Amino acid sequence: MSDRRRPDDAVGTRRTAGVAESVIREMTREALSRDAINLSQGIPDVGETPTEIRTAAKEAIDAESQYTITWGLPDLREAVAERYAAWKGVEYDPETEVTITSGTSEAIMSTMLALAGPGDEVIYFEPVYESYIPASQFAGATAIPLDITDDLELDYDRLAAAAEDARILVLNTPMNPTGKVFTREELERIEEIVFEHDLILLTDEIYEHIVYTDEYLSPVEVGDLADRTVVCTGMSKTFSVTGWRVGFCLAPEYLSKELRKVHDYATICAPTPFQRAGVEALSLPDSYYEELSRSYERRRDLLYDGLVEVGLDPVRPDGAYYIMARYPTDEDDIEFCYRLIREAGVAAVPGSSFYTDPDADADWIRFTFSRNESTIRDALDRLRENRWW
Ligand SMILES: Cc1ncc(COP(=O)(O)O)c(C=O)c1O
Repeated sequence: MSDRRRPDDAVGTRRTAGVAESVIREMTREALSRDAINLSQGIPDVGETPTEIRTAAKEAIDAESQYTITWGLPDLREAVAERYAAWKGVEYDPETEVTITSGTSEAIMSTMLALAGPGDEVIYFEPVYESYIPASQFAGATAIPLDITDDLELDYDRLAAAAEDARILVLNTPMNPTGKVFTREELERIEEIVFEHDLILLTDEIYEHIVYTDEYLSPVEVGDLADRTVVCTGMSKTFSVTGWRVGFCLAPEYLSKELRKVHDYATICAPTPFQRAGVEALSLPDSYYEELSRSYERRRDLLYDGLVEVGLDPVRPDGAYYIMARYPTDEDDIEFCYRLIREAGVAAVPGSSFYTDPDADADWIRFTFSRNESTIRDALDRLRENRWW
């Protein structure tokens, strides 16, 4: 590279200032460089993706490698509308209310950029999946985090007070990193607040098929919430294809119309062959989804019991594939995680990376059980043999 770069380091803007690189991905890199077992990033093991859909993707590469219509392959939008009508009891028009995005991440980003702007406030519950923090910032909006770390209970008075000036409420259920599944009662209270304060609800439902409780329901199944909600979800977790980058964004036309403007110019379309494979994926029988949850439930129990046995204090999740676990030392959570990689050969994520305040104190770390049972057993052996806490 020549030496003609701008001498000024501050080439970013207010949109990017202070946005740090994802700590989760940093832990993955550190784990790889030290040959640690990676229970940090939620990446399934090789072999979890159903064979039929891998075959469909390979065939699709030969058959169709050009852009699709920007809103997504019509067959896939139709399949999404049909499946979600069955799953959530809400009819979405595939022409105007279903958009295929480049992952759930893009659905969230497109929604935020389209529907929030400078002066708008965006509420979410903390600890929080880290994406909503930069998404709010990129939109120029103000983030209003509501902390539920202690008992994962909602404080409706605080929520109603925050909602007074807010525009968007983000809800992730099942929730990463806590595994919380919002109950019907909680969603009904949220519905009241959404309508009373004229909010738009952005739901991140990427773990909708990884649930261990009969209480699970989608927010759009509650009252009239579907009229106000942008559902962001996708194929990554349900079909173990995190690298395929296919997301589904379902919303009434007046909301879809706006977020489609960002989607169109940001990405043109999601990867065509993987959209085609998505049609195949959505034709899998109901038993696929039942077995998916059962299989993760076994791994949840394995990791949960193992963490208790090694003297950590885990919170049993009702959904998604993460466990938050408190540790009994005074160490900083980031130092604890680096030491865990160095001394025990296991990678986890420091709890503080799930808070808007970069200096947040957290006495917990997050493990994923998206890996197969033998990997989880190996990790537990290492924790047992090398614990210093
Ligand atoms: C809550 C949540 N939302 C979104 C994503 C990213 O989804 P995608 O791969 O569809 O972009 C993740 C990934 O871990 C997640 O945990």
